[in-house]
Amino acid sequence: MSFLRKIFFTLWYLRKPPWDTNQTPPELADFIQSNPPGRALDLGCGTGTNVITLAKHGWQATGVDFIPKAIRSAQRKAAKAGVSADLRVGDVVKLNGINSPFDLILDIGCYHSLDQPSMQAYQENIKRLLAPGGTFMIYLFFRSEDKLSGSSATEADLLPFEQFLELVERQDGTERDLRMSSWLRYKKASL
Ligand SMILES: C[S@@+](CC[C@H](N)C(=O)[O-])C[C@H]1O[C@@H](n2cnc3c(N)ncnc32)[C@H](O)[C@@H]1O
Repeated sequence: MSFLRKIFFTLWYLRKPPWDTNQTPPELADFIQSNPPGRALDLGCGTGTNVITLAKHGWQATGVDFIPKAIRSAQRKAAKAGVSADLRVGDVVKLNGINSPFDLILDIGCYHSLDQPSMQAYQENIKRLLAPGGTFMIYLFFRSEDKLSGSSATEADLLPFEQFLELVERQDGTERDLRMSSWLRYKKASL
């Protein structure tokens, strides 16, 4: 399944994927405006748009994506923007070699593409890597009849996060008028 997903995303990155807009969404821009910089991890960072935005605002930012072409493009963009960021090829299900606690973990459009065992491993990684008092921000869309939607997520796939995080904000919407989507912001209790 993960292998097929990789092919799916590799094919998208052969041309310009629709999500690769070079625009940081207002939800993240608002968060950056109202929080001091710290350590950030962008899961499924694509070509690094949001890692670069975070780095420009003083964050020590790490981005992980399993498509080498996307990471190469992210590294080129970061160099061009004159920012330093840790951009690496890796699987968000494993996150080998990533250990430091993060004040912000961001996911725009990655979690919803994982299968069930991968989602469970991902949840364990969030538990392990989010610092006390840290924020987990996620944008996802939900499974629809549209077989090309790339999403396998349901509402039930969000429930495990509430076992170790507090949901602070949720904004529901629609993705390109095609399917239900949500922005969610969770916080981990401080020590
Ligand atoms: C919809 S794109 C969004 C990219 C980026 N977050 C953005 O907003 O431009 C989802 C990204 O997640 C990556 N991805 C999906 N599954 C992954 C996995 N298991 N490990 C690492 N990256 C993954 C894809 O390669 C793709 O770049």
